Amino acid sequence: MERSLTMELVRVTEAAALSSARWMGRGLRNEADDAATSAMRTVFDTIPMQGVVVIGEGEMDEAPMLYIGEKLGTGVGPAVDVAVDPLEGTNIVAQGTWNALAVIAIADKGNLLHAPDMYMEKIAVGTEAVGKVDINASTYENLQAVADAKKKDIEDVVAIVLDRPRHQQLIQEIRQAGARIKLIPDGDVAAAINTAFDETGVDILFGIGGAPEGVLAAVALKCLGGEIQGKLVPKDEAERARCEKMGIKDLDRVFYMEDFCKGDDAIFAATGVTDGELLKGVQFKGTRATTQTVVMRAKSGTVRFIDGEHSLKKKPNLVMEP
Ligand code: FBP
Repeated sequence: MERSLTMELVRVTEAAALSSARWMGRGLRNEADDAATSAMRTVFDTIPMQGVVVIGEGEMDEAPMLYIGEKLGTGVGPAVDVAVDPLEGTNIVAQGTWNALAVIAIADKGNLLHAPDMYMEKIAVGTEAVGKVDINASTYENLQAVADAKKKDIEDVVAIVLDRPRHQQLIQEIRQAGARIKLIPDGDVAAAINTAFDETGVDILFGIGGAPEGVLAAVALKCLGGEIQGKLVPKDEAERARCEKMGIKDLDRVFYMEDFCKGDDAIFAATGVTDGELLKGVQFKGTRATTQTVVMRAKSGTVRFIDGEHSLKKKPNLVMEP
């Protein structure tokens, strides 16, 4: 892949974040998502690549743009798989809370897992605990493994978990183990990434979230030297049949880093839409707006934080009608 694609991807996530951030706190999650999707789609047309969406807004018949199989880019340049979540955390923006992101990941063609749109059980950690956790081990064993790897007491470990009734038992197990918990209303991509940054104070992600989000988090963690493991959790017969059709016969199969993203190269970019532990959200002042983006590449291991200052007068398509 061309190195210059990293900067192109920043432009894509910045545009999505600028567009959807205008919807912050308005209670309109679909409008916020549509704004991000359409801005992202527009910028893709200018990027020299032959991209195909493998993780997107849905199947062709259910999403008008950024649907699975859609071709992106100018049609010249490297052939890449594209995973997008134009707005990761639609409710977060609707309510104006923490950690909404505009997210994209790319890898050489054929290298990203075509994860079905269903739930996935996940466990994610940063560099120090790589190779030490196991999704099939007990919650206590994994917490102890992270504590040992990070040379802390289990009482000092912070687990991040989506606040959902389905996680009641998991939460109880974490509490019984003596670890601390950060319950989040939404946004397990940011949560997984945060395990790789000490300053976020988060050591391990546990629980069930979206499988597509698992692929995006995996690319980020690949760039950061962290790890995620996942197991699909089909909710009914139709979803089980879907797995079977995709060639996933063993529903207990564990997806490891190399299953999520093959090869040694991939690029990940995320721009904050609302404020989070790692990235500031979009701020508006008159005709100016600021963004903060993290962009990273697996091959080089470079992680860049990019502050953008934008003139909305010159980007009229990003300004929401009053
Ligand atoms: P959206 O951006 O689609 O709203 O997803 C937000 C999210 O919290 C993800 O981060 C997470 O993987 C998934 O939803 C969890 O799903 P559910 O809300 O059904 O528990």
